[in-house]
Amino acid sequence: MAALDRRGTFERDGFLVLEGFRTPQDCRELQARALELVAGFDPTPASPVFSTRTQAHANDDTFLSSGGAIRFFLEDGALDTAGRLCRPKAESIHKIGHALHDLDPVFERFSRAPEVAGLARELAFVQPLLLQSMYIFKQPRIGGEVVCHQDATFLYDEPQSVTGLWFALEDARRDNGCLWVLPGGHRGGLKSRFVRRPGGGTSFVHFDTTPWPEGQLVPLEVPCGSVIVLHGLLPHRSDANRSPRSRHAYTLHLLESGTSYPADNWLQRPPGMPLRGFDG
Ligand code: FE2
Repeated sequence: MAALDRRGTFERDGFLVLEGFRTPQDCRELQARALELVAGFDPTPASPVFSTRTQAHANDDTFLSSGGAIRFFLEDGALDTAGRLCRPKAESIHKIGHALHDLDPVFERFSRAPEVAGLARELAFVQPLLLQSMYIFKQPRIGGEVVCHQDATFLYDEPQSVTGLWFALEDARRDNGCLWVLPGGHRGGLKSRFVRRPGGGTSFVHFDTTPWPEGQLVPLEVPCGSVIVLHGLLPHRSDANRSPRSRHAYTLHLLESGTSYPADNWLQRPPGMPLRGFDG
């Protein structure tokens, strides 16, 4: 697809699917590095659980300070009532976030590869900054659902520029929890914001409480190596993974330099760790 077609399709639909964007070798390297990082992680009964259904993580310091760190979040249901892992550690992690792209050399190389920088240019970014990264495991049989949402709820800027890049590191099919999107739904306005409260903790501020038109979302089944570009206002979700196969994905969020990024966004970088672009 030519560059102009890519941009036009993205602006019309709010998403763009590019198969074969990364090589199988690129995907395997990132998976291997993620598993190395997990091997060095020592979970405790206090390790945070990540769940978009219960928001169990939302007021946890490990989560709130992860904008400038590499942190591990467990699947909902990964711990038993005594706080012990119910299954092997490598199968209990929900995700790693949220500064892999700046703090780990393998993730940095993948995130700042020339083809990713070129895609950002095609999408009309002038001076893109790399805001957030997540490695999402979507574990076999326990990988939890991600309820319908807009990424701008969590990563809000004015004027809106935040864009997600969702890299399929394994085949993503309906049975293992592929993405579902609402074509054109990015034109519907922002329904809520997830903000830090002045006294501590977080909460949602709702602007529009009408339910999502869940029946209108369409599945994006993609092979390993694909990238799905998501407009920050595009409603999307993924189902729980009930299959025996994992569905590893890596996500990277970009924003345009110079937009206003509010201090009450949940994701903040620590002092001395400014956002960086593709060139360093
Ligand atoms: Fe999302």
